[in-house]
Amino acid sequence: MYELKNVTKRYTRGNDTVHALDGIDLTIGDGDRLVIQGPTGGGKSTLLQMLGGLDRPTDGEVVLDGTDLAKLSEARLTKVRSENIGFVFQSFNLIPTLTAQENVETALVPLGIKAKERRELAAEALKSVGLGERLSHLPSEMSGGQQQRVAIARALVKRPKVLLADEPTGNLDEGMRDEIMDVLERLWKEHGLTFIMVTHDSAIAKKAPRLATIRKGRITVRENAGA
Ligand SMILES: Nc1ncnc2c1ncn2[C@@H]1O[C@H](COP(=O)(O)OP(=O)(O)OP(=O)(O)O)[C@@H](O)[C@H]1O
Ligand SMILES: [Mg+2]
Repeated sequence: MYELKNVTKRYTRGNDTVHALDGIDLTIGDGDRLVIQGPTGGGKSTLLQMLGGLDRPTDGEVVLDGTDLAKLSEARLTKVRSENIGFVFQSFNLIPTLTAQENVETALVPLGIKAKERRELAAEALKSVGLGERLSHLPSEMSGGQQQRVAIARALVKRPKVLLADEPTGNLDEGMRDEIMDVLERLWKEHGLTFIMVTHDSAIAKKAPRLATIRKGRITVRENAGA
C-alpha cells in the first residue's frame, strides 16, 4: 500500500522553478488499479517516478508498505525497485542488441537468479503475454505491440507487487492498444498487482474504477462506482 503525504517536486533551472508536484496526498491500496490522466506537463510522469523510487521528492513522504522511499539510501532504494516494482514505458525501452528472452532476463539479474532459471522464467513470462514463439527475436524483428509485450513480460517476470505504466499504449495504433490493455488487465488480475497507469486515452479513463487527474502538480481523485 502506498501512502503519499504532501509530495512536492520542484525543478530549478537558473532563476526558474517548476513546481512539477505541489503537495500530493494519495493512498493506493494493495491490488488497486489507478488511472492517471491530465494535460501535458501536469506532473504525471513525475508522480510515477516518485512512486517507483526513480527519483525523490523535494518534500513529503512516499511510503510503500511502511517504508518512506524518500528517505532510503540509494542502495536500499535500488533493491526495493528491483524486487517490488515493474515499469512499462511508452517507448518500450528494450535493449536493441538483446533477444526478447534476454531482454526479459535483465530484470532477474539484480535478484541473483542463476542463468538457467532466468532463461526458464523469461520464457514463461513471454508465453504469458503470447510471445512463446518469439523468444529469440530482436526488438527490430517485432511489431510495436509485440515489443510492448516483451516490456510487460520484463516488468512482471520478477513478480513485483506494483506495476507502473507511463502511457503504455501511446505509441500504438488502436488495434494494438486494445490488445495491450487486455494483456495488462488480465495480468493485473492474475498477479494481484497494484497497477498505476498514466494514459491520455479517454476511453480507458472512462472505464477506470478510480481516476486521478493531475493538473499543475495538483491531484484530484474520482471514484467511479459504475466502472
Ligand atoms: N528533469 C526535469 N528538469 C526540469 N523540469 C522538469 C524535469 N522533469 C519534468 N520537468 C517539468 O515538470 C513538469 C511536469 O513534467 P511531467 O513530465 O511530470 O509531465 P507529464 O504530466 O508527464 O506530461 P506529458 O503528458 O507531456 O508526459 C513539466 O513542467 C516539466 O517541464
Ligand atoms: Mg509524461
